[in-house]
Amino acid sequence: MTTLNYEFFYTWVESNLNIQLDAYKEKQLRRRIQTIMRQAGAESLEEYSTLIHSSESIKKQFLDYITINVTEFFRNKDLFDNFEHLLTTDLSKKFDSISIWSAACSIGAEPYSLAMIMDRHDLPLKQNILATDIDNTILARAKTGIFKDNELKNVSIFDKASYFKEVDRTFVLDEKIKSKVDFKKHDLILESYPKKLHVIVCRNVTIYFKNEIKEEIYKRMGQSLVKGGLLFTGATETIYQPDQYGLKKVASFIYEKIE
Ligand SMILES: C[S@@+](CC[C@H](N)C(=O)[O-])C[C@H]1O[C@@H](n2cnc3c(N)ncnc32)[C@H](O)[C@@H]1O
Repeated sequence: MTTLNYEFFYTWVESNLNIQLDAYKEKQLRRRIQTIMRQAGAESLEEYSTLIHSSESIKKQFLDYITINVTEFFRNKDLFDNFEHLLTTDLSKKFDSISIWSAACSIGAEPYSLAMIMDRHDLPLKQNILATDIDNTILARAKTGIFKDNELKNVSIFDKASYFKEVDRTFVLDEKIKSKVDFKKHDLILESYPKKLHVIVCRNVTIYFKNEIKEEIYKRMGQSLVKGGLLFTGATETIYQPDQYGLKKVASFIYEKIE
């Protein structure tokens, strides 16, 4: 398949599905498109776009596969522990109440982990945790608050007992935690960002984006944080030269807004 085919396909996807595929890393993306296209039985991108257009299930399968939803509660537990420490000591001393955005939240394990931390330490939220993702299907799943055992492997025995009920080999999250999170569809590339935030957690999504897109995202996140606020990134998402976004590194993958 030629580059031209992909360009046409990306343009078609942007105007029909409102996703900007040329923001994603090229090689990785093409590999994923080839795999999912073959699974759908299409031989060319043109044929595949016709299939996506005519079948809701193929469209859903394409969107689900492209957006990569892997997640779990307290992902990279050691990093989450550091973040919890900063949140409960440094940040809660600086601010009376805290506003949090969990961007690219997938099925909700991340914002619900944050809600559990806030609850455990009895910290006041300024408003409900805002949890956003580009993918409507996973947001619908996030709202159910029902999780699988393997998604809870980093949840402590204490939190499991306090915040979940086991029902037919699934884990149902307590209403008290669920009610602290508001889910909303949001595209990190195409839409504006909320402002005056104390915490942004944005993990394991910028790895899929090209450098210039990643830089723009961190610049906008820097602008969305109040001075003293924290940005928590994924375990491979180092921000080089954080000062260009008004940020400074305060722990591994945790950055503070400094100006
Ligand atoms: C690998 S998951 C990360 C989930 C969670 N943050 C974590 O670290 O466990 C990546 C998420 O990014 C979302 N995503 C991909 N492109 C996006 C975009 N342009 N805007 C917002 N979310 C996006 C996907 O739908 C997916 O849920």
